[in-house]
Amino acid sequence: MDERVDKRETRAIVRYTDVCKSFGDLQVLDHINLAVKPGTVHFLIGASGVGKSVAIKILVGLLGADAGRVELDGVDVTDFDEESFYPIRRRCQMIFQHSTLFDALTVLENVAMPAQKRFRLLRRQAENKARQTLKLVHAENLCDRLPSTLGQGVQKRVAIARALALDPEILLYDEPTTGLDPVAARRTDRLIQEMAHELNLTSLVVSHDLASVQGIGDWVTFLHRGKVHFDGLPAELFASQDETVRGFVHGAGRRWAPKPL
Ligand SMILES: Nc1ncnc2c1ncn2[C@@H]1O[C@H](COP(=O)(O)OP(=O)(O)OP(=O)(O)O)[C@@H](O)[C@H]1O
Ligand SMILES: [Mg+2]
Repeated sequence: MDERVDKRETRAIVRYTDVCKSFGDLQVLDHINLAVKPGTVHFLIGASGVGKSVAIKILVGLLGADAGRVELDGVDVTDFDEESFYPIRRRCQMIFQHSTLFDALTVLENVAMPAQKRFRLLRRQAENKARQTLKLVHAENLCDRLPSTLGQGVQKRVAIARALALDPEILLYDEPTTGLDPVAARRTDRLIQEMAHELNLTSLVVSHDLASVQGIGDWVTFLHRGKVHFDGLPAELFASQDETVRGFVHGAGRRWAPKPL
């Protein structure tokens, strides 16, 4: 095993217990159990439509669970109303697949504005905070640029900076490397890992990208047909002889194959 931290023994910061979610006749999540340890990069993988995005939306109250419990740092948030979720959404920042940056604002303004509002800062204070945060994602030289002039990988870094400027404890990434070229994808991976391990930011990453799982995952949960089919270390996933796991990892049409460990 490499130097990645095995934090299995520490408490979970996010815990799902027997979470179920249906839409009409379609049962998407069927008694899902999930425990995310603080400061880890935890991947949630599975085929398209299996319910990965639904699962993370339940954590921040964008969707409600039909049954089961969801806890954040030991607090049961399952029955929270909309208003009670506001502080949860501040603690758990979601980074969406598609850019949600404002095209009319510069990179600096994009990062500074939410922080200014959230912490009631003066504009100059918010811009200082934004500069520091942009430095963390290695984008401090892009302050005056407009998002539309940047590549997708760089826009992703700016979106991560905007989330970081709000001082979250948990980052929820939905497909952070989808649509990026391989160089930008691995750079994004390294950034996710740095944020998790250097800033102790828990990262729950929804992804199809098995190279990311192998490269930076501390833990991986594989959803299949509404259930958790595999929950363990990435190395265990790639070594698994389970037919369904192998089917996903080496699936038809998938060109990627795990590197020898
Ligand atoms: N608000 C909703 N109303 C009705 N059905 C929904 C809703 N949100 C999700 N679904 C359905 O739930 C299932 C799981 O959706 P989800 O978006 O979580 O999949 P996913 O695993 O994230 O897939 P992908 O990898 O393609 O993003 C899909 O069949 C989807 O159509
Ligand atoms: Mg999704």
